[in-house]
Amino acid sequence: MPSLSANLAGIKSPNPFWLASAPPTNSGYQIMKAFDAGWGGAVWKTLGVPVINVSSRYGSVNYRSNRMVGFNNIELITDRPLADNLREIEEVKKYFPNHAVIASLMVETKEEWQQIVKDVENAGADGIELNFGCPHGMCERGMGSAVGQEPSILQMITSWVKEVAKIPVIVKLTPNITDITEPAEAAARGGADAISLINTIQSLVGVDLDRFVAYPIVDGKSTNGGYCGPAVKPIALNMVKNCAQHSGVNIPISGIGGIENWRDATEYLLLGASNVQVCTAVMHYGFGIIREMTSGLESYMREKGFERLDDFIGKALPNIKTWENLNLHYDVKAHIDPAKCIQCQLCYTACEDGAHQAIGLPVEGRIPYIIEENCVGCNLCSLVCPVENCITMVRKDDGSQSENWKDFVAAGKAPDSFNDQRAGGLGHWVPEPASALERKK
Ligand SMILES: Cc1cc2nc3c(=O)[nH]c(=O)nc-3n(C[C@H](O)[C@H](O)[C@H](O)COP(=O)(O)O)c2cc1C
Repeated sequence: MPSLSANLAGIKSPNPFWLASAPPTNSGYQIMKAFDAGWGGAVWKTLGVPVINVSSRYGSVNYRSNRMVGFNNIELITDRPLADNLREIEEVKKYFPNHAVIASLMVETKEEWQQIVKDVENAGADGIELNFGCPHGMCERGMGSAVGQEPSILQMITSWVKEVAKIPVIVKLTPNITDITEPAEAAARGGADAISLINTIQSLVGVDLDRFVAYPIVDGKSTNGGYCGPAVKPIALNMVKNCAQHSGVNIPISGIGGIENWRDATEYLLLGASNVQVCTAVMHYGFGIIREMTSGLESYMREKGFERLDDFIGKALPNIKTWENLNLHYDVKAHIDPAKCIQCQLCYTACEDGAHQAIGLPVEGRIPYIIEENCVGCNLCSLVCPVENCITMVRKDDGSQSENWKDFVAAGKAPDSFNDQRAGGLGHWVPEPASALERKK
């Protein structure tokens, strides 16, 4: 049997699946129920000076029949007294000594930070997560994402915490920033033992067309919230990858954002996360989703011959390059399987109006065909096709040639227009991957 046991900067848990700091981790009752169901760890709903929350507080983006593709909230940190939370942390650790209990924290002054760290350590927490990510309400008070967007402040507060902390410290990052590696590096410089990302993305999910107010509505008014759920996973995956590949970060990563099942979680692990955290999926479907997550990950590991998580954490990273390192000679073309085609012609419309006019309609019958000389292999037809594996992309080059953009330009093969632009002649935006890479170093 492969082992699912996980270790994030010395914080051990029976599996890599943690609940993220949010309503599902608001109380000891919920966390014990989650551990009973099979979750490996939980990050407590952020503790600090208790707040007063508003109602309503949630909104969602629904896509066709799918509920809550994206989820939006304007909730703040815990509204429960600190003493109650501390007592319950102690209780949870008594019943579940081998599960990870992490205290998420957000306060203001150095004294408050250092005091609350001691409080949660005394209660028995296994680790601390600094919430520098909340992008609504708390940031207007100078906390949450207001800290996450200022690397020097983030570093300073992290080092205050590290002065007193005896347990590992995780810095939770805000995605509301241009380059996630800047706060990630600052966290490492401040002494953080790990980073977690992402917190929510600042958002408005929609506007009520009759009441002229955005959602969620609080007595006729609204405010921007934080976006999460399946819609944010691509953004979070990219940020996790950026941190994992960055030599200045070099501390373990806890991946968060849109995880609903074992596949989502495994993608994060393959991109370098040592474990994952889940919020929206549990708010949507309940703690029971953990059963599919653990059994799915176990089967995957068995199938691939992995004995432990370390066998595949980060395994996809070497295959993610900057654009100019991709092979320009790799050539695929679309192929339609007539036996599977349901003749909806969605592929035809998409390619005709939105791509390269590489799909034709027959004079007789309704099954479209590919015009190979026009097909650039973009994938659009296979993405819009409602039938699985009806349109596949078939390799046409013989695999013998490989040349990336850098070599292509160096060999003088770039079109004149590109060279003119590089010389600044046209005043257009000029892609300069090399200089961006230089900045990174
Ligand atoms: C209603 C709600 C409340 C949240 N409260 C907190 C919080 O108190 N502290 C925190 O660090 N993150 C909080 N989050 C953010 C989540 O921990 C998580 O980072 C985010 O939702 C992305 O994960 P997901 O896509 O699985 O939901 C909250 C999210 C939601 C939806």
